[in-house]
Amino acid sequence: MKQTETKGIYKEKNRIFTENPRSCKGIKVYNEKLTTIEKKEFRSWNPYRSKLAAAILKGLKFNIEPDDHILYLGAATGTTVSHISDIVKNGIIYAVESSPVAVHDLIKLSEKRPNIIPILGDANHPDRYSNMISIVDFIYQDISQRNQAEIFIENIKRYLKKNGTGILIVKARSIDVSLPPKQAYNLTSLKIKESQLKVIKTMELAPYEKDHAAIVVTF
Ligand SMILES: C[S@@+](CC[C@H](N)C(=O)[O-])C[C@H]1O[C@@H](n2cnc3c(N)ncnc32)[C@H](O)[C@@H]1O
Repeated sequence: MKQTETKGIYKEKNRIFTENPRSCKGIKVYNEKLTTIEKKEFRSWNPYRSKLAAAILKGLKFNIEPDDHILYLGAATGTTVSHISDIVKNGIIYAVESSPVAVHDLIKLSEKRPNIIPILGDANHPDRYSNMISIVDFIYQDISQRNQAEIFIENIKRYLKKNGTGILIVKARSIDVSLPPKQAYNLTSLKIKESQLKVIKTMELAPYEKDHAAIVVTF
């Protein structure tokens, strides 16, 4: 298993892994495979369950450091959050999720992973969680809503540091079911550029996730 260009993400053949912290030894989050090598335990990161893993396996490059502070919008029950928690082992993930049932699972996850701060909140209203978050290095959003671009832009303007990185996962059908996916991605990208953010790359996530793309931006 080899360390990739991103500290904390490992690769073997066409599979990627993150390292399980000692506090979570033997514990799976979503039935992922665990492998022990030289007393270190690695969790296989499934690209069919996590769009960030799909993007990485398709070659998406972005900068994330072990002590980064991350704002994660649309955390759900923590599948992808858990892998980011492995990567930013000295950092913090503010995990915003609007479903109380999912937040219940996030709270359980955070008991063994103190770098996860679960926040029951609506990403449409970034001001409402301003008392719990400060400026972050990285924003990741995976919310299937028609106004996903607007939500992303508002949160970036409010919380991302200068030259920080944002990744927006776009679900084409949520933007407009009648549009071909590529047009939905272009429309989203245009909205981002019009709001003075820089689009660095757009990457489609097929074959792992059909009709989805990751857009990387900086501020
Ligand atoms: C596709 S799922 C996210 C999957 C997750 N990112 C992962 O990889 O493990 C989208 C999530 O966004 C949440 N969501 C939808 N609208 C939201 C909003 N306005 N604010 C916060 N979360 C929202 C949903 O409840 C759902 O859990």
